[in-house]
Amino acid sequence: MAKHINDLIASRRAVLGGLVGMPLLNLAGCATPGPAASSAAPPAVMNFASVAATNADTVSLPPGYSFRTLIAWGDALFDTVSVNFDPDTLTRAEQEQRFGQNCDMLAALPHTYAFPPPRNGDRLILCVNNEYASAELMFPALERMDQFSAAHLETLYTSVGVSIVEIERDDADWRALKNPAPGEGFNRRITPFTPVRISGPAAQHPWVVAASTVFNANEPGGGAGEVACGTLQNCAGGVTPWGTFLSAEENFDSMFAGTPEDVTEASRDDAYALDVLSHGYPAPYIPRRIAPSQYRIADNPHGPALFGWIVEIDPYDPNSTPKKRTALGRKKNECANTAIARDGRVAVYTGDDQRGEHLYKFVTRGRFDANNRAANMDLLDEGDLYAAQFLENGQGRWLKLTVETANAAAQAAESPIRFADQGDLVMRVRDAARLLDATPMDRPEDVEPVIDANWRGDGTVLIACTNNNERGFETPGNPRRESENPNTAQNNLPGHILRLDEANGDNAAERFTWDVFALCGDPDAPDLIHETRTGLHAHVSVDWNGQPTFTGDRFACPDNILLDSTHRVWIATDGSDAVFGDCNDNVVVTPANATLPRPVKRFLVGPVGAEICGPLLTPDERAFMCCIQHPGANTVAGQEYWQLRWTGAPPPSHFPDGGDRWPRSAVVVVTRDDGGRIGD
Ligand code: FEO
Ligand code: CA
Ligand code: CA
Repeated sequence: MAKHINDLIASRRAVLGGLVGMPLLNLAGCATPGPAASSAAPPAVMNFASVAATNADTVSLPPGYSFRTLIAWGDALFDTVSVNFDPDTLTRAEQEQRFGQNCDMLAALPHTYAFPPPRNGDRLILCVNNEYASAELMFPALERMDQFSAAHLETLYTSVGVSIVEIERDDADWRALKNPAPGEGFNRRITPFTPVRISGPAAQHPWVVAASTVFNANEPGGGAGEVACGTLQNCAGGVTPWGTFLSAEENFDSMFAGTPEDVTEASRDDAYALDVLSHGYPAPYIPRRIAPSQYRIADNPHGPALFGWIVEIDPYDPNSTPKKRTALGRKKNECANTAIARDGRVAVYTGDDQRGEHLYKFVTRGRFDANNRAANMDLLDEGDLYAAQFLENGQGRWLKLTVETANAAAQAAESPIRFADQGDLVMRVRDAARLLDATPMDRPEDVEPVIDANWRGDGTVLIACTNNNERGFETPGNPRRESENPNTAQNNLPGHILRLDEANGDNAAERFTWDVFALCGDPDAPDLIHETRTGLHAHVSVDWNGQPTFTGDRFACPDNILLDSTHRVWIATDGSDAVFGDCNDNVVVTPANATLPRPVKRFLVGPVGAEICGPLLTPDERAFMCCIQHPGANTVAGQEYWQLRWTGAPPPSHFPDGGDRWPRSAVVVVTRDDGGRIGD
């Protein structure tokens, strides 16, 4: 557990980058053919000119491609608020009806539910995560941090959560639609104040019960059994075959205010103390005096127990109550991607994006019913939860996380940890996974099963491991690179992508094999060590087992992965610029079924200081969308803007509005000028 002390503020850029000036630490060939090898998919092509590395403050694309902003932070979702957005006068009430901050995951559902999903459609429901709020990128007129009021902070909290917006293709172009008012159409905001239900084995966990009382005392008005804790720190997620959106709560520690003394006061219970240590709350940079009471550890010590879950939202009913599916485990969830297994059960893959944490899979007890949508709506409440154990020689197994197995492992290890029931286990799932010897990973982010047009998985899964700036020696699944000194510890700053193949091609299997899909880095590097713009030494060889895993454009820090119908892999980066400073975060493409070394081409480069999230293709694959998250969060030289903001320095980016306009996170849509399919 000790390693987590260093991770208290670590998982990545944390929420309020800079309210009190805390330094926030922010920080991959297969020997076999790729995922498409076993399918009849046509060979993937990449018929576009690679985009040159650039630090331009715009979205850079290959010739013949154009982009436009689909929607950005603050844009009105309803006619009830003005089309004119003024970030300085933004209130909670307004933000509840405007597109949220720091957009991350994107998912598109057909405007009318259908299974299997149609491969075309001019009207879609776009589900967007609003991961966290950057204080330094809100309220431009504020000159000092101490000018933040409780109202500012409440507005900032409201900018986080989920935004759902209808989009429509009008001639060749996509546009976002406004609804007349909330409830009149599919547009909606879900914030850290929205009523939700806690569902599954942890629904009556004592921590949940205690925290729910506090939340509802502060935000009365929810229905019976609802908790006004909403959702927050929504990173990636997924979509289910039954047409719901899964939103993954990641760095929930970043939303709770308090001091070490508050935690000590609340830590009479060893399990609680361990939970604080593991997840690293509270965040020391949120001013306690102005934080909403229910988000203060002193007032609500078990508040964090209501977060770190996968949240299921039915976008087809704007009045539906989101449900937190506790059966999938509480952790810093990055994603929740689904595949229908051989027998009709549904596998959900999640990554826990913190150094040394684990990879998980949940398999439903019930089977998906393609003819009865309603019958699927609570499938995620019952099933088996597993953590991955990567073994030497390319084998691996899924460790079933049950009270019996976890308590037996604790006893054998002479650990004092015990789990009272499955609810207690899912609440503290990291502890259970660790006791059962799940493999510590290099920040597993997106975990994408390969599925066909009928959502059937073929057992292949790609796993983006963003990086690890503290790892020592090699572990199975987390290889080290060539080095002049093979006996020294080695960071993995560029990250890597793993491939996992479930036994017998069955996504419900309990055994798998694994391989390296790509070791990220620089295939043309003159030296094995590359000095980054901030003077760090990155190991950038892309070779594994003596063979280069890829050729072409260098990249680092893979975050989100998209697989298209021809099995091209679209990889969005978060922090690539911290390794290779000559190019902002970007999207690269590689055919999954290429022989090694696989070719990699850069398709898109984002503006200054932005990570690229949520790569998405429309069903006909004639439009590519992604989120430009937090443009201006750092300079080209790599300095974080929160360190500069209160000196009066202008933001390092003016995306998407240009000129000297304040930067806004935005969803962009990319199309081919000739209307053709993206990438062909
Ligand atoms: Fe929210 Fe793990 O990136
Ligand atoms: Ca992410
Ligand atoms: Ca990210």
